[in-house]
Amino acid sequence: MGAASSSPRRQNARSQFRCIECGAVYPLDEVRYRCDCGELLEVVTDLASFPAALRAAWTKPEASSCKPPSAATAAAWKEHWAHHRHEVAFLRYKDLLLPDLPDAAVVSLREGDTPLYPASERVRAYCGVHELWLKHEGMNPTLSFKDRGMVAGVSWAKHLGARRVLCASTGDTSAAMAAYAARAGIPSAVLLPHGKVSAEQFSQAITYGARVVEIETDFDGCMRLVQELAANPRVYLLNSMNSIRIEGQKAIGIETLDQLGWRVPDYFAVPVGNAGNLSALGKGLRELRELGVIDRLPRLVGAQAERANPLYRSFLGGFAPLEPVTAGETVASAMRIGNPVSFKKAVRELKASHGLVEQVSEEEIMDARAVVDQSGIAICPNSATAVAAVRKLRVRGMIEEGASVVVMLTGHGAKFSESARRYHESSTSSFANRPVVVEADLGAVRKALGL
Ligand code: F0G
Repeated sequence: MGAASSSPRRQNARSQFRCIECGAVYPLDEVRYRCDCGELLEVVTDLASFPAALRAAWTKPEASSCKPPSAATAAAWKEHWAHHRHEVAFLRYKDLLLPDLPDAAVVSLREGDTPLYPASERVRAYCGVHELWLKHEGMNPTLSFKDRGMVAGVSWAKHLGARRVLCASTGDTSAAMAAYAARAGIPSAVLLPHGKVSAEQFSQAITYGARVVEIETDFDGCMRLVQELAANPRVYLLNSMNSIRIEGQKAIGIETLDQLGWRVPDYFAVPVGNAGNLSALGKGLRELRELGVIDRLPRLVGAQAERANPLYRSFLGGFAPLEPVTAGETVASAMRIGNPVSFKKAVRELKASHGLVEQVSEEEIMDARAVVDQSGIAICPNSATAVAAVRKLRVRGMIEEGASVVVMLTGHGAKFSESARRYHESSTSSFANRPVVVEADLGAVRKALGL
């Protein structure tokens, strides 16, 4: 790693790392996860230096004479993206995500362009929200939103010539990293908290060929270890504390707004664990506003499980400093995190958007999951946390009647079959669809079918 510098970016580079606390800057092609002061880094891109084609569009005499530069700039960006509709999402939006990455280095599994479903009448009634959209990131190649960050992270790793990639995970980051690394031909290794990831997530890391090391600790324990290992130059760390990944994840919010025809929803809700996703969503939307593509920000809503709620606790204290907790067992196991790495970034985005944080119980999570599943959209308990939080905030009047809401569904239900089975087999579940077992006898089968 090189030393901190206040020197200009490397020639032609459009982005650099900047410390979120002290503002020190570092070249983007340096392998670096934190500032020398110990704080997180973010990627800052010179948005004014966008591609020549765009620049030409907004400096056209008619453009500059009849519209303020920002409006013309916004129109040029929108035109640019409309023109690149046929490209995979990461390439389409790459000028705003990771412009210094050469197109040829992109390792894609055709992630993105996920559906933005209007919620069914029953789901809307359940949440008490008339205009409700479900952005289903579980429809990505490895069935979670992690593919959005990983296309950026692994492509950057390849661009840098990394020989091995590494992450700690609650199951989805590891699946995505293993898949993209396999695609790129880079060996990968993952640290998983032993017995705390679903069978399906576990099998993903194994089958894509990652070296899987299960550790007798929780995710926070794995995260501590992986940060130590990242000092070794022979591995490239792909947790979301690597801010390159955050840049890739910005695509989710940008794509959602594009799908809405750039109409800004009043609220945008996401489940929060390590807080990388909320940070990425907020950063991407702020940048759209800076470019004039949108004229206001949606209020961000962070959703947590009661048993893993450090961000919610901070919110209650007016965004008090993080007090790490030991996260308890929850059906939302991908968010079982007590010491979120991107806490500060997430708080910054919540403040910038006048956001809200809510916590929900295990029962609320599984009920919300069942209601959305029964509308034909299979979601994981982590995603259901955000649906349940929206319902709760509506009931409390914190989200006002008539507000439009987007909920980001972060993972597919197929990754979490065990909790679904348990819910539907239980006699106490509100929306259970209990299976029955009968003998191989026509009469018994008829009876079970009511025929
Ligand atoms: N939803 C799902 C399905 C997740 O896998 C995660 C995080 C989150 C929500 C929370 O996102 O951490 O950015 O706040 N999964 C990580 C992992 C921690 O290792 O797969 P976050």
